Amino acid sequence: KLTPVIMAGGSGTRLWPLSRSLFPKQFLTLASSVSMLQQTVNRTLNLPSEDCILLCNEEHRFLVAEQLRELNYQNGRIMLEPAGRNTAPAIALAAFDIAEKDGDALMMVMAADHVIENQSAFEKAILNAIPLAEDNKLVTFGIVANSPETGYGYIKRGKTLSDDAFEVERFVEKPNLATAKDYLESGEYYWNSGMFMFKASVYLEALKTNAPEIFLACEAAYKAKSEDLDFIRAGKQEFLQSPDDSIDYAIMEHTTDAVVVPMDAGWSDVGSWSALWEIDKKDGNGNATNGDVILHNTSDCLVHATSRLVSTVGLKDVVIVETKDAVLAAHKDQVQDVKEIVSKLKADE
Ligand code: GDD
Ligand code: MG
Repeated sequence: KLTPVIMAGGSGTRLWPLSRSLFPKQFLTLASSVSMLQQTVNRTLNLPSEDCILLCNEEHRFLVAEQLRELNYQNGRIMLEPAGRNTAPAIALAAFDIAEKDGDALMMVMAADHVIENQSAFEKAILNAIPLAEDNKLVTFGIVANSPETGYGYIKRGKTLSDDAFEVERFVEKPNLATAKDYLESGEYYWNSGMFMFKASVYLEALKTNAPEIFLACEAAYKAKSEDLDFIRAGKQEFLQSPDDSIDYAIMEHTTDAVVVPMDAGWSDVGSWSALWEIDKKDGNGNATNGDVILHNTSDCLVHATSRLVSTVGLKDVVIVETKDAVLAAHKDQVQDVKEIVSKLKADE
């Protein structure tokens, strides 16, 4: 048995201006009729799983609750973080909660903002991972890398454990472009999918060893939790003491207990407008459109209109995203830098 742990506390800044701090990426319906969070919940329905835990920032609690209600999903417990401290502390809260009942119970940690096209390949990889996690490993799921993305973790495959699993020789979170190119060429690296499986006790032990301050702050925050019908709230003062770090930097880059299970499931983290364009339905000219849009002599563009008519003439490889109060026009090759706009906006606040 497995507890799905869904991390829904990110800010998704590279999908600005659709993704906003009050309504980030995981709650949006992009290239689907349900949100990415809802897709993630649906993805767990066939797993041999118990109730799931959803982790999010306190300010998004009603969004999460409402999206679960829309699905008529009643097996989710929602844990609230008083402020974002990234994924290592968030996962720790869930681990303490699960370990309270059974330290040997397995957690299936999932990001709330991914698209996975092939459900059965996803389920197969998870079943492959279970015996490894039961053997006290920290299981990562590896995606075959096909471009030198710098926004991902890279996993170097080590010794073969079985047809479907390898030791992790090295884990490098978000390498620079030159390094990513080397890794890609070597053919020995997978992308880290951002999903993990391990025993609650194994995660807590790895955290204690590699990031003791996070461990202590989260232990105290969990002890100080308060609970009502809808939400479990981590202790605020205690949680705020935790360093801000991701599981990737805090644990995966350091542990020697990691293994990788390849996953070939049509995975995308929809990390940018160009990634969305890749997976979106396109017309004969390669344009992905949404809303009230008129295109002329336009190809390979993404044009998303929310509240007004948007028209283009003579464009190629351009992203245009219109919302009521902000418009983005960007070259498709540079959409990673949309987060720079968000930083500027924050600095001006
Ligand atoms: N609850 C909670 N609290 N969730 C969080 C927090 C937090 O403070 N911060 C991020 N998340 C959630 C995000 O919503 C997302 O679902 C997931 O955790 C991963 O966070 P991202 O911020 O999107 O990480 P990333 O994309 O930069 O990198 C991670 O994912 C890549 C694949 O998409 C890493 O694991 C990389 O190694 C990996 O390649
Ligand atoms: Mg991400």
